[in-house]
Amino acid sequence: MTQSTWDAVDAYFSEQLVGHDPALEEAAVAADAAGLPEIAVAPNQGKLLHLLALTQGARRILEVGTLGGYSAIWLARALPADGTLITLEIDPKHAEVARGNLVRAGLDKVAEVRLGRAADSLAALVEQGVEPFDLVFIDADKPSNPEYFRRALQLTRPGSLIIVDNVVRGGAVADADSTDPAVVGTRALHELIAAEPRVTATSVQTVGSKGYDGFTLARVQS
Ligand code: SAH
Ligand code: DHB
Ligand code: MG
Repeated sequence: MTQSTWDAVDAYFSEQLVGHDPALEEAAVAADAAGLPEIAVAPNQGKLLHLLALTQGARRILEVGTLGGYSAIWLARALPADGTLITLEIDPKHAEVARGNLVRAGLDKVAEVRLGRAADSLAALVEQGVEPFDLVFIDADKPSNPEYFRRALQLTRPGSLIIVDNVVRGGAVADADSTDPAVVGTRALHELIAAEPRVTATSVQTVGSKGYDGFTLARVQS
């Protein structure tokens, strides 16, 4: 089984279970037109995020790594009308594209893009003592995953769900000798989670239009 099979299966599932979705399609086109990298979650992965947010009954969602707002649209759509999504982005162009996409998706009342280094924005949220988030999606620079996860723990409550994207990266995560900073960061994340009594977690491998990769899911217990 290779990439072309994974693409075909993802296309089939997305056609059956996601279907034609103008706001999401326009968001992808706008991101492409602005020259953003094509690294947003796939449609069926976006819908997984949406389902997890619904299952959480999430009223407050935090995202680390906005890009063009594609995953933010999926997540924000799971919120009630008075819900909140805050998404953190370092690149002004990405943030601008995302803001336009959120407006076109009718989500600019619930979703806010915060420009800056995620580490700084997260520290500021902790400093401000904001209400805990029900779901956190970590999907930015992979070397910082341990720091983002520690911050997520400070910004959540028992019952919250923390999701981390891209934890497999073609299998490289299993290589203890890797010097790739993304792999080192993701292995450090796993060590941190393994030693963290406040969460119960698993990581799963995925294949699809985004290649061979995976997610970590961690539920805050206490
Ligand atoms: N979640 C998006 C994809 C995010 S891609 C989606 O699925 O639709 C990763 C994003 O993280 C990029 O836009 C990149 O600019 C941003 N990023 C990288 N390093 C960052 C940092 N230190 N702080 C905040 N954002 C960062
Ligand atoms: C990359 C980043 C992502 O968040 C992703 O889902 C896929 C690829 C990257 O930086 O290459
Ligand atoms: Mg990702």
